Amino acid sequence: MPRDAYVNGRYVPHAQAQVHVEDRGYQFADAVYEVIAVHGGRLVDEEPHLDRLDHSLSSLAIAWPMSRAALKLAMRELIRRNGVERGIIYLQISRGVAPRDHAFPKSKPRPALVMTTRHARRPNAALLEKGAAAITVPDIRWQRCDIKSVSLLPNILGKQKAVESGAYEAWQVAPDGTVTEGTSTNAWIVTEEGELVTRHLDHAILSGITRQAVKRIAAEGQIKVVERPFTVAEVHEAREAFLTSTTSFVLPITSLDGDKIGDGKPGPISRRLREWYLDHMDSPPSDAAA
Ligand code: PDD
Repeated sequence: MPRDAYVNGRYVPHAQAQVHVEDRGYQFADAVYEVIAVHGGRLVDEEPHLDRLDHSLSSLAIAWPMSRAALKLAMRELIRRNGVERGIIYLQISRGVAPRDHAFPKSKPRPALVMTTRHARRPNAALLEKGAAAITVPDIRWQRCDIKSVSLLPNILGKQKAVESGAYEAWQVAPDGTVTEGTSTNAWIVTEEGELVTRHLDHAILSGITRQAVKRIAAEGQIKVVERPFTVAEVHEAREAFLTSTTSFVLPITSLDGDKIGDGKPGPISRRLREWYLDHMDSPPSDAAA
């Protein structure tokens, strides 16, 4: 199947998709991105993703490269061309192309938009059965992690450490001993009392769209959600732990730094939330026009 990428207004064969060497995303990581799940050919939680994109762009004074409506059409066209039923669409918007200079270019270049798609991998049955391992790493990121910037070096280094440790994810820990979030996921625990705890939103974490959906789904299912910082010690004492993201959905975490969490198996609340989240992916939004 031919795989196209979208590059600044054109659909081009993926292998030939290129950006300019002086794209500011390439030179300065002066760019933002989104990853949106495609399920049954439909974009999951499209509006909240576009709201977050708007937050990222406006926080950095990068203009939308086109209207929101036009972007929605372009995303649908790429998904259609690539025949994506289940997978993701990646979109990245940089401040544009300009001679290298740290300050924003006076020429006000057109923001550069690229998009690619990927088909979903088959779910890893063993991982779901056993749960995933996580390690802790110091959170060495900047103070605006609420912006979904492509500047991801600390995240990359953390994830690589996880991979080298045979773990799935690294949970980043602030100097005060609290867990902020994973390198590409949000972090949650279930306390002895059966309450869900996930860090409150501020500049220290990304406002995960899956986090948002799970928070709502949990409340609908009469599970109490508390948004507050939690410590590494609390994770070790938790009944269950799990992570959320567009690509991993809800994934139980059954060990941290080699120590079992709870009984070391995916717990009932994490499993139930995963099921409920999969149902949510299956159900189109009530105001769905496309
Ligand atoms: N990562 N925290 C960070 C640092 C992230 O990069 C992500 C998403 C999340 C979860 O957000 P969401 O539920 O909206 O996917 C939390 C994407 C999937 C990525 O970088 O590939």
